[in-house]
Amino acid sequence: MKKTILLLSIITILSSHLIAQKKIWNETDVQKTERLAWWTNDRFGMFIHWGTYALAGRHEWVKKRERISDEKYQKYFDNFNPDLYNPTEWAKMAKAAGMKYAVITTKHHEGFTLFDSKFTDYKVTNTPYNKDALKEWVDAFRAEGLKVGFYYSLIDWHHPEYTVDRVHPKSAKTMEEYDKLNKDRDMKVYRKYLKDQVTEILSNYGKIDILWLDYSFPGKFGKGRDDWGSVELMKLVRKLQPGIIVNDRADLKEYKGGWDFTTPEQFKVVEWPTYEGKKIPWETCQTFSGSWGYYRDELTWKNNKQLLVLLIESVSKGGNVLLNVGPTGRGTIDNRAQSALHKMGEWMKVNNRSIYGCTQAPAEFEAPENSLLTYNPKTNRLYIHLLDYPLKNYTLKGMKGKIKYAQFLHDASEILIKNRHGYGELKNSGFEESDINIELPVNKPDVEIPVIELILN
Ligand code: GLC
Repeated sequence: MKKTILLLSIITILSSHLIAQKKIWNETDVQKTERLAWWTNDRFGMFIHWGTYALAGRHEWVKKRERISDEKYQKYFDNFNPDLYNPTEWAKMAKAAGMKYAVITTKHHEGFTLFDSKFTDYKVTNTPYNKDALKEWVDAFRAEGLKVGFYYSLIDWHHPEYTVDRVHPKSAKTMEEYDKLNKDRDMKVYRKYLKDQVTEILSNYGKIDILWLDYSFPGKFGKGRDDWGSVELMKLVRKLQPGIIVNDRADLKEYKGGWDFTTPEQFKVVEWPTYEGKKIPWETCQTFSGSWGYYRDELTWKNNKQLLVLLIESVSKGGNVLLNVGPTGRGTIDNRAQSALHKMGEWMKVNNRSIYGCTQAPAEFEAPENSLLTYNPKTNRLYIHLLDYPLKNYTLKGMKGKIKYAQFLHDASEILIKNRHGYGELKNSGFEESDINIELPVNKPDVEIPVIELILN
C-alpha cells in the first residue's frame, strides 16, 4: 500500500515536472549564451517608432487615447509621404551615438505596416510614399554595420477580425457590450494573419537579428498566448530565423525558448533581473521624452547626464539599453533627438570601452560613493564612473595591491596611486590598511561623466 502511494506520488511529481517543462525548442544554456553573445557585448541599441501616427504628432496611442474611428484615422494614411526619409542618415546618427543595433516598428498597434505585405492593403506601398520603407531601412542600417531588429505589434487596431479588447480604441465596459462588438470578429482569422505577416518579415529581408513582439495583457478583456497562438508562432520564428533574439512579450514566460530577454520599460531596475533564481538577459527600453512615436508638444526630455547614467547603470547591472527615436512624418529625426544622440556620441566616442563587453563588477569590488562600476571580464579592467566629481583624493576601498595601472579613460592620462592621504590625516578617518587613495586633478575633465580605468593585476 505504502509503496503504491509512493510510486503514485513520484509519478505525479514527474508528470507535473514534465508539464512545467514547456518547450519551444531544444537549446542548452551554453548555446543560448553563445547565440546572445553579440547582443550582450554590444549593450546599446536604437529603438524606432514610426508609423502614420507620426503625422498626428501626439503619441503612437493617439487612436486609442482619443478613440478615433478608422474613417477619421484614415487621413494619416492618405497623407503619409515622408519625402525627407533617408535611413542612411538615421543609421549614421545611431552609429555615431555608439549604438550597435536598431529595432524598428514594422507594424505598431495602429495596424499600418511599414513593409509591403501580401495580406493587407493598409501598408506603406499604398500611401503616397509608395515604396517599401522597411526594405530601404534594412539596407541602410546593414550597410552601416548595424544589426537589424523588427518590432511587430501583436495588437492590431485596424484588422477587422481582431476582437475588441480593453486596449482597443473601441474598448467597452461590460461583457454584453464586448459580445455585441465582437459578434462578427474572428480571432482565428487574425491569428493566421499574424503568422503570415511574421513569416513575411522574417523571410523577405534576409537575416534578422532581433524580433520584438508587443505585447500580451492576459486577464479580463485582455489577450495572451492563446489569442496570439504564441506557441505556434514562436516555433515558426525559431524555424525561420534560428539565430534571432526574441523579447519576452508573447506570454511564453514558462516556455523554454519562448523568449530570450526581459524588457523593463521606462524604468530603471533595482538589481539584475532574475527568473527562477537565475540572472537573465535584460534590456530596458526608454524614450528621450515621454512618447515613443513623434510627439511635437511633449517636453519632458531627459538630459545628457540622465541618459548616460541610464546606460552606465544598466551595464553595471548586466543589462542593455534600447533608446527610442520617433521620426517625423517627413521622415526626419527632429533636432531635440538629434542633439541628444550627438551628445551621447561625444561621450561614447572616448568612453565606450567601459560599455562594450562590460557587465556587473564582481562582488569583491565596492563602488565608491557617487559612482557606478562596470567590468570587462575579458580584459580584467574595472571602470569607475564618477557621477559627482570628487575633490582630489579619492579612496578605493579594499583595492590595495589589486591595481596594476590607473588612467582616465577619455585621454589615457595617468592617475597617481597613493597609499595614504598625506599630512594631517585623522586616525579615525575610516581609511584602512587594505585601501588606497588615488589623486585626481582638481579640475573635472571636460567629459560629462569621467571614467577611471583600472587595469587590474
Ligand atoms: C508599450 C506600448 C508601445 C510601445 C512599447 C515599447 O507596449 O504599447 O506603444 O511601443 O511599449 O516598449
